[in-house]
Amino acid sequence: MISSFSSTMLIRSILKKQSSLSSYNNILRRNNYSSSSECVPPARKVVVLGAAGGIGQPLSLLMKLNPLVSMLSLYDIVGTPGVTSDLSHANTRSQVVGYMGEGNLGKALEGADLVIIPAGIPRKPGMTRDDLFNINAGIVKGLCTAIAKYCPHALVNIISNPVNSTVPIASEVFKKAGTYDERRLFGVTTLDVVRAKTFYAAKAQVPVSAVNVPVVGGHAGITILPLFSQATPKADSLSEEEITALTKRTQDGGTEVVEAKAGKGSATLSMAYAGALFADACLKGLNGVPDVVECSFVESNVTELPFFASKVRLGKNGVEEVLGLGPLSDNEKQGLEALIPELKSSIDKGIKFANQS
Ligand code: 2OP
Repeated sequence: MISSFSSTMLIRSILKKQSSLSSYNNILRRNNYSSSSECVPPARKVVVLGAAGGIGQPLSLLMKLNPLVSMLSLYDIVGTPGVTSDLSHANTRSQVVGYMGEGNLGKALEGADLVIIPAGIPRKPGMTRDDLFNINAGIVKGLCTAIAKYCPHALVNIISNPVNSTVPIASEVFKKAGTYDERRLFGVTTLDVVRAKTFYAAKAQVPVSAVNVPVVGGHAGITILPLFSQATPKADSLSEEEITALTKRTQDGGTEVVEAKAGKGSATLSMAYAGALFADACLKGLNGVPDVVECSFVESNVTELPFFASKVRLGKNGVEEVLGLGPLSDNEKQGLEALIPELKSSIDKGIKFANQS
């Protein structure tokens, strides 16, 4: 007979490895998550705000493919009916519903477990993420005001740039509405991790699927700090110059895409991929899958700053634990010191904006 401790350990180890819906269903059945004979994962409503945009469309497709989603609610100010009709023909678990125009925002949000916000305008060559502030700050403020009203307990994943300011804006909106729960608000920095993994794997000549690289700080330029000293598998052959070049390429990854697109926007496909990975991690956490750890820009005590990206353990209420930085190389220590003033000023700018009107 298996003891309850060892059966829990067994379930934990299997859950960590699970990736397909059928293995997920088996785990759920054994773990009594579902009482139905079909043993589908729990019902989860995911909302995409800005679903008809450059990131929103591929992100919505990827969420439509995610077996953890039962209801996919798409919202945008224009173009939602076409995207909704198109996606609704895909024969996957979730039902897709679309809402267009501000008057329908409440209906889009009601009952949400997870809201993902890619809404806003993208960069053009020569622009920094902060140059988007004047337009995107107001968009995020308005959307978060509606979230506080219609789905105050949802997890919120913010993709709209500048993330270093839009996350603090969201927190202030939620505080004013009396709904703020720091465990439920996330700035999506997964694309920085995705880039760091990709570039490291190519340079170190290791299989990318085996690579892990934490990326901490924020989501703009030098505030993006990949910790290649903690990268696994270890690649002792990489020189300091190579690590410096990898760091710079990760920090400038978004700009690399903006320039390649030559005026037609910023990263949409890789951003959607990264946003979908992070949303999937949040859903797994909500469903009680143990040991789900991802980097994210969250309320934090890791540094003197009120928000900071680092590894976060996700659980049934969102953030379960914000993990520390671990040992840093001398260059990483310098990078950390250098990013603090810029990140502080972006955070302060968001907080000020949210409170001035
Ligand atoms: C990026 O890093 C769009 O901010 C996004 O490319």
